[in-house]
Amino acid sequence: GYNLSVLPPHRKDVETAPTLAMLAARAMDCRVCGLWQPASRTVFGEGPEHAAIMLVGEQPGDQEDLQGRPFVGPAGQMLDHALRDAGLNRDQLYVTNAVKHFHFTWNGTRRLHQKPEADHMAACRVWLDAERRLVQPKLMVMLGVTAAQSVLQKPVTISRTRSRLFPLEGQVQGLVTVHPSYLLRLPDEESRQREYARFVEDLRLAAQYVA
Ligand code: URA
Repeated sequence: GYNLSVLPPHRKDVETAPTLAMLAARAMDCRVCGLWQPASRTVFGEGPEHAAIMLVGEQPGDQEDLQGRPFVGPAGQMLDHALRDAGLNRDQLYVTNAVKHFHFTWNGTRRLHQKPEADHMAACRVWLDAERRLVQPKLMVMLGVTAAQSVLQKPVTISRTRSRLFPLEGQVQGLVTVHPSYLLRLPDEESRQREYARFVEDLRLAAQYVA
């Protein structure tokens, strides 16, 4: 459902927003795709205006939708833990998502996460582009396949792209790794520990970008 009685923010206003605070304010009533309607709120990125590293996730989950901040639920706790183990401090990073509304279906009384569709990712690109313009990170870290496809604009597999630095346009480097929720879904302790260690190793590649 598109609600044509409500105008989306004008592309020009997004592209010319002078600060992250103004950009985030403009995103609050985004209706470019249909996800705004069932969701509680826009969950915009957060972090220092000129962070050296931008972390990109998939989309807000249940907790993020309720609290209005990225990566504050179970995946966020996993991420914070791994960042610390890699020698990074979340406060130094700009943390955002490829899609800025929670996409879900009801299962009885619970809201179940659904993957964002290509249309949602395409509609939300304007916000990610504007965040990149204002933050001007030296490194883009893509968490999982949705983030990687949204940033790289082509089909990618995690196994073929992860764990190495590669140049994006401009003076920006890219790094792909797994999404922290992948670690939460692993069935046994042994694979969880192994994959967690690999995730931390990937994030250590990023740590050299902060002074
Ligand atoms: N998963 C994401 O990709 N982003 C969030 O903000 C939370 C969970």
